[in-house]
Amino acid sequence: MASSAAAPKRLVVLVSGSGTNLQALIDGIDAVGSDAYGAEIVAVGADRSGTAGLERAERVGLRTFVCRVQDHPTRAEWDRALAEAVAAYEPDLVISAGFMKIVGKEFLARFGGRTVNTHPALLPSFPGAYGVRDALAYGAKVTGCTVHFVDDGVDTGPIIAQRAIEIRDEDHEDGGDALHERIKEVERKLLVEVVGRLARHGYRIEGRKVSIP
Ligand code: GRF
Repeated sequence: MASSAAAPKRLVVLVSGSGTNLQALIDGIDAVGSDAYGAEIVAVGADRSGTAGLERAERVGLRTFVCRVQDHPTRAEWDRALAEAVAAYEPDLVISAGFMKIVGKEFLARFGGRTVNTHPALLPSFPGAYGVRDALAYGAKVTGCTVHFVDDGVDTGPIIAQRAIEIRDEDHEDGGDALHERIKEVERKLLVEVVGRLARHGYRIEGRKVSIP
């Protein structure tokens, strides 16, 4: 991606659930304006309808689309449809913000190297859909969050930034809900900071190493 051009970079944000990471991006951009932030959200996509995440987008007048796996005969066709829906908005970056689906070949052929995901654990520890619960079950004393580029594995792509969060004894009592909330507080700030830096400064991915000038 070219380094800071005049026009804000175009973001498509993908969500599945409550969309608090999406909200943080909306608020972060709103706070300073898209020119100063370096990016604007041009659309929000989801793999299911009727979620709080989509409502957050609609509330502020963002364009939305839904691409559900069950509406396509095969997973590959869903993946192609998702890639086409995203491509229609000509994004510079795609942000998977609590999007609970693994994208496939077609999607990565078009958006590999510019799709960013946020994960609630310190990768490469505890990848997958249960990163918070798995860290607790393992007895880890420290976990955190990771913002990384998406590749063809499950949470295996090059790491952009991470933050650590301590696990407390009492976190074992509620199955990780309070811990996940503490992680999400840090995760949202990190995502807003990282996306802005990528958009404003550009970046290089060499092997596993990501550098932002
Ligand atoms: C985040 O912790 C994300 O890392 C995980 O699911 C959570 C999504 O939260 N995959 P939200 O929908 O942004 O509130």
